[in-house]
Amino acid sequence: MSQIPSYEERMKWFHEARFGMFIHWGLYAIPSRGEWVMYQEQIPVSEYAELAKQFNPSRFDANSWVALAKEAGMKYMVLTTRHHDGFCLFDSQVSDYTAPKTAAKRDFVREYVEAARAGGMKVGFYYSWLDWRFPGYFDHKGKPDSAKAMVRQAHDQVQELMTSYGKIDVLWYDGQWVPNLEADKWAEFWGAQEMNAKVRELQPHILINNRSGLAEDLDTPEQHVTASEAGRGWESCMTMGDSCGWGYIANNPNFKTVPQLIQNLVTAAAGAGNYLLNCGPKSDGTIREEEQSRLKAIGEWMKKNGESIYGSERCPFGAGIIGTATAKGNNAYLHIFRWPIQGEACVVNIKNEIKSATILQTGRKVEVARASNNRVYLKGIPVEPPHPYDTVIKLELDGGPEATSPARE
Ligand code: GLC
Repeated sequence: MSQIPSYEERMKWFHEARFGMFIHWGLYAIPSRGEWVMYQEQIPVSEYAELAKQFNPSRFDANSWVALAKEAGMKYMVLTTRHHDGFCLFDSQVSDYTAPKTAAKRDFVREYVEAARAGGMKVGFYYSWLDWRFPGYFDHKGKPDSAKAMVRQAHDQVQELMTSYGKIDVLWYDGQWVPNLEADKWAEFWGAQEMNAKVRELQPHILINNRSGLAEDLDTPEQHVTASEAGRGWESCMTMGDSCGWGYIANNPNFKTVPQLIQNLVTAAAGAGNYLLNCGPKSDGTIREEEQSRLKAIGEWMKKNGESIYGSERCPFGAGIIGTATAKGNNAYLHIFRWPIQGEACVVNIKNEIKSATILQTGRKVEVARASNNRVYLKGIPVEPPHPYDTVIKLELDGGPEATSPARE
């Protein structure tokens, strides 16, 4: 049996990566009212299943998804291999409700895996435990056989995913909640202990999220950026549009702005966590313009400022009202979201000697002056922010960043 590497070893690439692409894609892209449409509109199973006869994404090209993720500066991807509707994008031997066995006749998971690997992306699989097609899901006490069959299916399919597609880097479970069952019984209901042990036997390097009823490796704050305690891996997942839908919603005018998205990514990195930003491709397989343009703009920023994000650590001092800070080794990175207009910026409580200060966007050096009460002034900075949304000033220090306590005279 293969050896499971330590938590730190398994988490290494994930901490380096910091930024990933989530993809919610399936039959629900056709009605385009989000991935919960079947449940919310109470569409009968057989009626919803008709969509599988239409789902034939003529313009799907996994390489173009990978190219976009790369352009954004992302290092990994997580695809919905099967969402709550039960439709598999992969070739399952235990279900006929799959893309390869219906109109598309293609294993999209295989195409995705191959493209992601070729593009140097780490590969994640989203998989929903629950499947709305099983009456036993809604009434596990009254319909135990159906509930059992659903659990069996999950075990079989996760095993398929872990054996048929080579090395998988992240198993992103979801849909672990069970109606009329207390949260502390979910893991037992799904047989998560047994399943996850099997997964680790098959994929010793894998990271498993906390949505099987067990904590496993990663916390998954949803639609907000909230750090876990130091030492614990976490990843904030978020939609670009309204928070109610991850799958394609045709008219969804309330998209987050590029500065909001950059600030979210930076805030995650400042807490030593990751940002998994979602795309909901259309039913033809293409990614909408609103998502593409935002990802490209983030990528432009990442090209100059990525070193403040990849492999980031927590910085013991912040940047006050003007922004926040990340750290790495002997460097601190001040992320200035709200650029001061006076030609100088003030940060406080830096204990280290500052060897140099550089604006990453332009490479320009900045003068550093100390003042009383542990103040540091970065002088002679341009009046116009070198980057409109987040200008990063890299401080090269004499050691790992350390903070003083506030001083007041
Ligand atoms: C929720 C939703 C689901 C979405 C997921 C992403 O659990 O049920 O639709 O896939 O969040 O985190």
